[in-house]
Amino acid sequence: MGGAREPIGVIGTGYVGLVTAAGFAELGHEVWCVDVDEEKVARLRRGEVPIYEPGLEELLVKHRGHLHFSTDLADALAHARLLFVAVGTPPTYSGDADLSAVHAVVDAIPDADDRSLVMKSTVPCGTGASIQRVLKEQGRTRLSYVSCPEFLKEGSAVKDFLEPDRVVVGDNGDWAGDAVVALYEPLGAPLVRTDIQSAEMVKLASNAFLATKISFINEIANVCEQTGADVVEVARGMGLDDRIGPKFLQAGIGFGGSCFPKDVDALKQLAGNSGYHFQLLTAVIEVNELQKRRVMSKLVKHLGGLVGRRVALLGLAFKPNTDDMREASSLVLSARLAADGARVSAYDPIAEEEARKLMPGLEFADSALAAVEGADAVVLVTEWPEFRDLDWAGVAEQMSGWLVIDGRNALDADAVRAAGLVYEGIGRA
Ligand code: UDX
Repeated sequence: MGGAREPIGVIGTGYVGLVTAAGFAELGHEVWCVDVDEEKVARLRRGEVPIYEPGLEELLVKHRGHLHFSTDLADALAHARLLFVAVGTPPTYSGDADLSAVHAVVDAIPDADDRSLVMKSTVPCGTGASIQRVLKEQGRTRLSYVSCPEFLKEGSAVKDFLEPDRVVVGDNGDWAGDAVVALYEPLGAPLVRTDIQSAEMVKLASNAFLATKISFINEIANVCEQTGADVVEVARGMGLDDRIGPKFLQAGIGFGGSCFPKDVDALKQLAGNSGYHFQLLTAVIEVNELQKRRVMSKLVKHLGGLVGRRVALLGLAFKPNTDDMREASSLVLSARLAADGARVSAYDPIAEEEARKLMPGLEFADSALAAVEGADAVVLVTEWPEFRDLDWAGVAEQMSGWLVIDGRNALDADAVRAAGLVYEGIGRA
């Protein structure tokens, strides 16, 4: 073994696991994937892809002969010395990360000199140390441990794997760290090789910082509304400063997804558990919660009461190019609208199946034009590219009202107004 074509094991075939597996297959590795979900494994074996992620299906098809799926950990153990752990770490009621799936994997891996856990799952800082402590107590001292956090964005995860901004490897300076570094070498990305705690913290701090950037620009947007400035112009002016940068400065109706809300909470909780009150993150979370409700006051301002009013939501996923509904702003918004007596219709190009499970009271339409039929107001919730090119005259004809709220500042305001509609964005006078 060793060298660029080292076989690898991937435990957990969610977003992170599947993309990691497909990415390593693309780099020429034989990949042994394991998941406890029998149905999922059966689907993957048949060549079905359980999630929507651009480019993923192509890679899974292309490397079908080199990707092996099983519910039996023994298959991966028989072939690979590096076992990437990519199982879920959802939040618990206390705000801590639930590490039971991680611990189950650790417990199941037999001790061996030439074997290492490679942690991809996002875990609290200190998890690697505590896992190693437990292993030692159990006398399992031969197993190595590496932290290798992932920074994949849904919707561009395959590209992010193959063209990462950086690769972070935290380890004890043994063979396993060297082997993981070697795996990523062909990608030519800057490498941060460090200790395990620091690697874990890089991941949490990066996500918390990006979330802070979003809540910051959302607060600037809210002040812009009071002062007559346009947050899109303000963000453009700020972003040209190299020290600030233009990314993650798009104001809107809040961040969602599987990572930011969870990781910000987890870092705040981690700090709290160790006796430090992370004030900034408390505000980041609160600003985001309020921002998800911000559309409500805009609707009321224009329409008065919402009882019996029809509101159409364009887009439901937490961001474009994914069917992921986790922590999506649409969930908060649709629940608030229903509570205030509005009738809500919605259209999302991909996320409908997921959304149906979570939003029972919603009327689902099969196109944007069908969703806006009879609507008093239209709210852009997710900036799918197809909504930018909507025929606004056609929309105006379908609607019974005239209000368009652009929750992502993604539409061409002039085009909307030219159709005789009233346009209102976030943070734009
Ligand atoms: C994020 C991190 O970017 C990634 O590095 C990490 O590994 C996983 O979490 P992801 O959740 O897929 O990725 O989505 P991302 O593109 O980062 O967007 C997160 C949320 O922030 C979305 O709801 C998006 O709409 C929102 N957002 C993003 C804004 O509101 N404004 C912005 O300027 C950028």
